[in-house]
Amino acid sequence: MSNKIQIFDTTLRDGEQVPGCQLSTDEKIVVARKLEELGVDVIEAGFPISSPGDFLSVVEISKAVKHVGVCALTRARKEDIDVAAEALHHAKRGRIHTGIGSSDIHIKHKFNSTREKVMEQGAWAVQYAKAKGYEVEFFAEDAGRADLAFLAQLVEAVIAAGADVVNIPDTTGYCLPHLYGKRIKYLFDNVKNIDKAIISVHCHNDLGLATANTIAGLMNGARQAEVTINGIGERAGNTSLEEVAMILQTHKDLDLTTGIKSTMLYEMSTLVSDMMRMPVQPNKAIVGANAFAHSSGIHQDGFLKNSENYEIINPSDVGVPSSSIILTARSGRAALKHRLELLGYQPNKSELDQLYDNFLVVADEKKNVVDEDLITLVANTPILVQK
Ligand code: KIV
Ligand code: ZN
Repeated sequence: MSNKIQIFDTTLRDGEQVPGCQLSTDEKIVVARKLEELGVDVIEAGFPISSPGDFLSVVEISKAVKHVGVCALTRARKEDIDVAAEALHHAKRGRIHTGIGSSDIHIKHKFNSTREKVMEQGAWAVQYAKAKGYEVEFFAEDAGRADLAFLAQLVEAVIAAGADVVNIPDTTGYCLPHLYGKRIKYLFDNVKNIDKAIISVHCHNDLGLATANTIAGLMNGARQAEVTINGIGERAGNTSLEEVAMILQTHKDLDLTTGIKSTMLYEMSTLVSDMMRMPVQPNKAIVGANAFAHSSGIHQDGFLKNSENYEIINPSDVGVPSSSIILTARSGRAALKHRLELLGYQPNKSELDQLYDNFLVVADEKKNVVDEDLITLVANTPILVQK
């Protein structure tokens, strides 16, 4: 089995479903081109039957990108598949992503159907989509809560019908990582034609486990990860692209790789956040404003001695220009000295002691002490520091 993970980005479909995050077709093209440059393998560009705008976006993204796969979402219905096929006409590598609910909850309460009928409809949709001449991916919606034996039968049926990729979504973000991983392993152990398709993982973050579940799926044989930039998506979001890429890059022991150019991650995150007017939470892993900021005295001292004491990723590896030392009332002398030196001051020990006492007074009043405050502090402290 290959150790290369295909990155399927659904920022422009699952991500764009977030209220207030809608983009125009032109904005989507900018994001799609940047995603291609970033190195994703497939871009899910929209759900063509859902609106004329989504249809147009799939058409225009198909024309705009050079070699990346372009995917269109459908339900397991003829009219959806016909419209998706038309929208993908210009795609160099088009993919139809069709599927149906696989959990008993969805089968009963969404479709008022039966397992048998759902399996028949899923296999039919794959066959019908395949006849359009595109790659076909099947999603077994709510697979995280589906009966496992039934899920295995469904996966076998859609692969037999011609699915190139089978997506096992944890649609409701319900699974625990070890159990989601076990689901994927069960499929590898029990679906006899599983080697004929790529198994894909698509996890939601309702319990904050989307990334952990995705990694568990990959560790158990899945070879495609469905992700979004900044983890945006329905409700609590989807698995974040930047987290998956950096976990695989950091944990070389997993022996799994992606084609992502990690040095573009920060730029990509900022582009999506700005365009969607969706701020990134400051403590977001990899791309949050505080991801490489050190603010407590103990951490700052250790970081200044050797960055490896408190950083497992070099900020330049994800395109963040540098780490930062934030001066607050929790900071110690080492951080203050460091920032003073960057400003050109070289206090000796007793000068630093005196400055530090005055600094604490300012820091107690302000949340964050900035360079201008330090310059004033030095000017107001009768010591012999030279600029
Ligand atoms: O979460 C989900 O199940 C989905 C499918 C449409 C793939 O987004
Ligand atoms: Zn989803």
